[in-house]
Amino acid sequence: MLNNLKLRIKKDLEELLGKQFNAELSIIVEEPKKAELGDLSIPVFSVVKQLRKPLPQIVEIVKETLNQIPDSGYFAKIDSVSGFINITLNRAMFAKLVVEDFNESEDYGTSDIGAGKTVCIDYSSPNIAKPFSIGHLRSTIIGHSLGNILEKCGYKVVRINHLGDFGTPFAKTIYAYLHWGNEEVVKQNSVEELVKLYVEFNEKAKQDKSLDEEARKIFSELEQGNEIYVKLWEYIREESLKDYMKVYDLLGVRFDSYNGEAFYNDKMQRIVDELKEKKLLVKDQGAMIVDLGDDIPPALIQKSDGSTLYITRDLAALFYRKNNYHFDEMLYVVGNEQKLHFTQLKRVIEKMGYDFAEDIHHINFGLVLQDGKKMSTRKGKIVKLEDVLDEASGMSLDYINEKNPGLEDKEQIAESIGVSAVVFNDLKNYRTNDFEFNLEEMVNFTGQTGPYLQYTSVRIQSILDSADSNETTLNYDLFEGEHYFEILKNISQYVDTIIKTKQEYAPSILAKYLLKLASLFNSFYAKERVLVEDEIERNTKLHLLKMTKDILNDGMRLLGMQVILKM
Ligand code: ARG
Repeated sequence: MLNNLKLRIKKDLEELLGKQFNAELSIIVEEPKKAELGDLSIPVFSVVKQLRKPLPQIVEIVKETLNQIPDSGYFAKIDSVSGFINITLNRAMFAKLVVEDFNESEDYGTSDIGAGKTVCIDYSSPNIAKPFSIGHLRSTIIGHSLGNILEKCGYKVVRINHLGDFGTPFAKTIYAYLHWGNEEVVKQNSVEELVKLYVEFNEKAKQDKSLDEEARKIFSELEQGNEIYVKLWEYIREESLKDYMKVYDLLGVRFDSYNGEAFYNDKMQRIVDELKEKKLLVKDQGAMIVDLGDDIPPALIQKSDGSTLYITRDLAALFYRKNNYHFDEMLYVVGNEQKLHFTQLKRVIEKMGYDFAEDIHHINFGLVLQDGKKMSTRKGKIVKLEDVLDEASGMSLDYINEKNPGLEDKEQIAESIGVSAVVFNDLKNYRTNDFEFNLEEMVNFTGQTGPYLQYTSVRIQSILDSADSNETTLNYDLFEGEHYFEILKNISQYVDTIIKTKQEYAPSILAKYLLKLASLFNSFYAKERVLVEDEIERNTKLHLLKMTKDILNDGMRLLGMQVILKM
């Protein structure tokens, strides 16, 4: 809303001034850094430069022109300070505009920037027969939330779980299963047992060098379709997926495709052929590589034994997705440590002469730390995700038992709070930063947390539930009050916030916005009694609360958190 107004002012000023001076001007309308200066601000230095007139004269001209545009009715005051023209809005009028816009909109915050466009998001993508790591949790949370945000912006979203279900590590598990595995034990506790087998293989391979060779053979035969290995592979894949599904269900995450690396097994030759045809493939010590320039290492496409690599499968996947989904953007939500891989992938596509290379984005993210060190899954030191989520739920249940022991469905609610706490804690951090995993902090109901947002929403809901009002009139003059206007202005920035979140692929922008909205409400509520005698005043306050709650709930949903009605 505020953004709309900004754009309209910009356009009108450019038009009117342009006509007046027969020049193509570019005007900036922004929000001033300091709120005391006003609601909107226009820097005029560039106009001074372009029109070659002294600053005071330009200031006068722009001010005068501002008074002529159709939106001038929204301006209460126009000032100027050292090259900036600052506009203070007529709060009552602006409030009316925002409230009406909110009331008329079926799904407030939507936009059409993505209309007719498709985005594929490759996220979560764990490696089967391996534990679901904390890094995969990050990918899942960030990818899921970006998917929701893109949909809100009108994009068609294809959610892809590019399972790591192929490769030599996996052949090691097959070898170990065939030699030391126990079917019954594996059945009962699949992923955990399979990981044990993998770890065991690696221990033994340290003593016996021939094991690695055996695994390579298995991998190569698997690629060629050896029946026993393929059956085993299917079994392991299914069991692993069952395990991951528990986490996805807890998080409310779903995918449109589970086509993992193996799916591309028969789709790579085409790529290799095309690379050859385009004379991009060169032999290097028996292996096939694509040279990518001096600044990065070459892409290894085929090993000397003919087996393919991670990047070969990613190339095949990329073309498959382009041809089947016709994406406008392809997002890979994968940790910082794969930066080189995605740079190479993009570079190969460029070298092949496809301009969709520029639509490929690596949505990278940082590490999760515990006591300053990477939370790790190697050497069997597994962070069991379900345990983490269970623990967060347990802490929430303790809180409920203390505050509201009679609450109905409290276990279910505690789970929603616990899981959302973990989700929010991840998303409030800018994704490329590392962050410390501290459950106590995440589940704190008064900090910058998920539970704080849920608590605020529940608090508003209970006020709304206890109010009965037949009044529909609002007193917009109340919005002259600073604490009213602050909330309203924040509400008016919801769409812009979502768009910015999409543009930067950074859910932390939305997360921080919601924290601010919640805190604005809580200070409002500390100052104002809502259920006052005066019906119009009461109705105005209730309406402001309802808008705030709707946005909090919608924003939480976009982040992948769960909305609760009581706590
Ligand atoms: N399975 C990989 C890993 O766990 C992540 C896959 C990411 N997606 C992709 N298309 N490469 O490291």
